[in-house]
Amino acid sequence: MKIGEFDAGRFMLAPMARVTDAAFRLLCRESGAGFTVSEMVSASGIAQGNKRTLALMFRFERENPFSMQLYGNSPEKFAVAAAAIEKGGLAEIIDLNFGCPMKKVVGRGGGGSMMRDPAGQAAIVMAVKKACSLPVTAKIRSGIGGRVTATECALALQDAGCDAVAVHPRLVEQGYSGSADWSVIARVRENLSIPVIGNGDVRSASDAEAMIRTTGCDAVMIGRGARGNPGIFGELAEGTCGRGLPDSEIAGANRQGADETCTENLAETSAFISNLRAAGITVANGVTESIAAATAQKYAARMQYFYRYVDIFMSIPQAFRPGFNHFRAQAQRFTLGARCAAGLRKRLVFAKDMQSLMDIMAEIEDGN
Ligand SMILES: Cc1cc2nc3c(=O)[nH]c(=O)nc-3n(C[C@H](O)[C@H](O)[C@H](O)COP(=O)(O)O)c2cc1C
Repeated sequence: MKIGEFDAGRFMLAPMARVTDAAFRLLCRESGAGFTVSEMVSASGIAQGNKRTLALMFRFERENPFSMQLYGNSPEKFAVAAAAIEKGGLAEIIDLNFGCPMKKVVGRGGGGSMMRDPAGQAAIVMAVKKACSLPVTAKIRSGIGGRVTATECALALQDAGCDAVAVHPRLVEQGYSGSADWSVIARVRENLSIPVIGNGDVRSASDAEAMIRTTGCDAVMIGRGARGNPGIFGELAEGTCGRGLPDSEIAGANRQGADETCTENLAETSAFISNLRAAGITVANGVTESIAAATAQKYAARMQYFYRYVDIFMSIPQAFRPGFNHFRAQAQRFTLGARCAAGLRKRLVFAKDMQSLMDIMAEIEDGN
């Protein structure tokens, strides 16, 4: 998929505040993500030169093309921020956040509250387009206050010159609860001529295939499925989530079941096998061991990603590097689902410095 002149690939990392720092994004690029987006950054924070906002804007040159996501509600401030981003060569693409459900953002008329104002969204696109020559994308939700306005907003965005639209099909008031309603993505796709990026509840290659098949979206954006799991982009590119688990080993179980099984921890995979047997489905002997081996392999790979994350993280210039609490939270995400990790993970919460944290991570690696 192209955004302006840039090849953005088929699978991209979703913006996630306090998760998608520069090191994590680069790791996802290395693993196969076609395109990455900053955490949301306040347009007025940039306009006012706020120190914390500027720290969020750091990216490695190798992270290219890179999109800076702005939130706010004043077209003038978006314009000032966009011009500064272009002038400083800080990003190749500008993304507009019209979906954030956080009270402090919605309460000030930004993020998801813009889903009731297609004309306001269009005004921001036009202001940004006038202020810079970078391609502009927008990330929207289904709607707000029970009203589904996604298609209406997407059409207004397209008419205003937006280059692509990403759709996370939940109402703002839903936050991240319930399931994403992919039919909203399909409707937006039917009505637009610019690229449409589908987002919401994709955790595996089979989910991504299903989203593309059922919605016709041009690319898929992955958020929570990538947390602590940057390797998902390699699996998506190869179309092989659940590597190491031959299809033939589960008689009667569908491929999607196998994919999902491999993304969970061993206790859940064993329960899944018991459920299959209880349902009268024949499961070959040794399959639990085979899944255990595949699961162990998967989490060993995750630990390797963690060590690579540490290297990249430490190479972020000190002034822009997130603090230890952020680093510890990221480390915890890389251990989710690992065997033997429950007790050790509790100790991670209390790790006070880098050395003690790295010691616990090594124990988790050994126990996996
Ligand atoms: C911790 C967290 C932080 C997020 N921060 C942002 C953000 O800064 N900007 C944004 O547009 N969406 C943000 N999102 C929403 C995600 O980009 C994505 O739309 C949502 O998680 C659904 O996709 P998923 O099911 O693949 O996670 C965030 C989501 C999470 C879980």
